Amino acid sequence: MLQQKHLLGLEGYPAEDIQTIIDTAFTFREVLDRPIKKVPSLQGKTIVNLFFENSTRTRISFELAQKRLSADTVNFSASTSSLKKGETFKDTAQNIEAMKIDAVVMRHPTPGAPLHLTQHINSIVINAGDGTHEHPTQAILDMTSLHEKFGYLKGLKVGIIGDISHSRVALSNIHGLKTMGAEVTLCGPSTLIPPFAEDLGVSVNYNVDEVIEWADALNVLRIQRERMGGGLLPSVREYRNLFGISTERLSNHKKEIVIMHPGPINRGVEIDSSVADSDQAIILDQVLNGVASRMAILYLLLGGKQEEGNS
Ligand code: CP
Repeated sequence: MLQQKHLLGLEGYPAEDIQTIIDTAFTFREVLDRPIKKVPSLQGKTIVNLFFENSTRTRISFELAQKRLSADTVNFSASTSSLKKGETFKDTAQNIEAMKIDAVVMRHPTPGAPLHLTQHINSIVINAGDGTHEHPTQAILDMTSLHEKFGYLKGLKVGIIGDISHSRVALSNIHGLKTMGAEVTLCGPSTLIPPFAEDLGVSVNYNVDEVIEWADALNVLRIQRERMGGGLLPSVREYRNLFGISTERLSNHKKEIVIMHPGPINRGVEIDSSVADSDQAIILDQVLNGVASRMAILYLLLGGKQEEGNS
């Protein structure tokens, strides 16, 4: 039902397939509002969640999406596996596949690891975040949330604020939003905006107040504290003063814009609690849409059957 067997990234991903995923996610949102939040669409399918890096939202969201679709799920944690005894990535993957599975959801700290995995196994591979490369399911849930809020993506003005250079969320959002016809402006310290940014078809503006004035929605990224003081970022206090999204900063602008954050949040650094917990933030809607979007992706990639009343 989708043109590509795997979901490795949104660079070059077809617009019609992104739209199909978003439309399907809305039908699964309806399932999530039912008293019994389960459909038999992926009964008999087996999915392994292969996490080599920490995660709260993505891991639980994928596992819930799989359970809501009645798939059998297995969770693999690198830290408690035979990788610790020296087993290779290739042997690990091929041994898991030998147990007759249908798909692997993988998070890995190395960019390109999910692509590498497709070269060793025949199962469907879904990228749940690979280093600083891509996080395609996060961008799809972000676009689903924007579509839910505004009713369209084409022409929507989205500001992405923070550490763009190290953010897989930013890169997948840039590719996805540009494909869907949205306008994107990046904003953050010049040390954290990649020099090739404008080649991606986006604008760069280092003045966050100008971006707030321009945007319909802001996607505020987590500032990785480990980069503070390393020459890439000023102090936490200076970052907050220059780029932090605070109630005072937003109140200088007349229009109300939508605030997004992929999580985890550093409250009081990139965003204040008063903004993150306000009515203009859709951060928890993003989390709920994450389950629906991942249900849609799994359903469409694994060729699931829609139940009556869910078409
Ligand atoms: N947004 C996101 O990827 O969060 P986790 O790292 O908790 O999965």
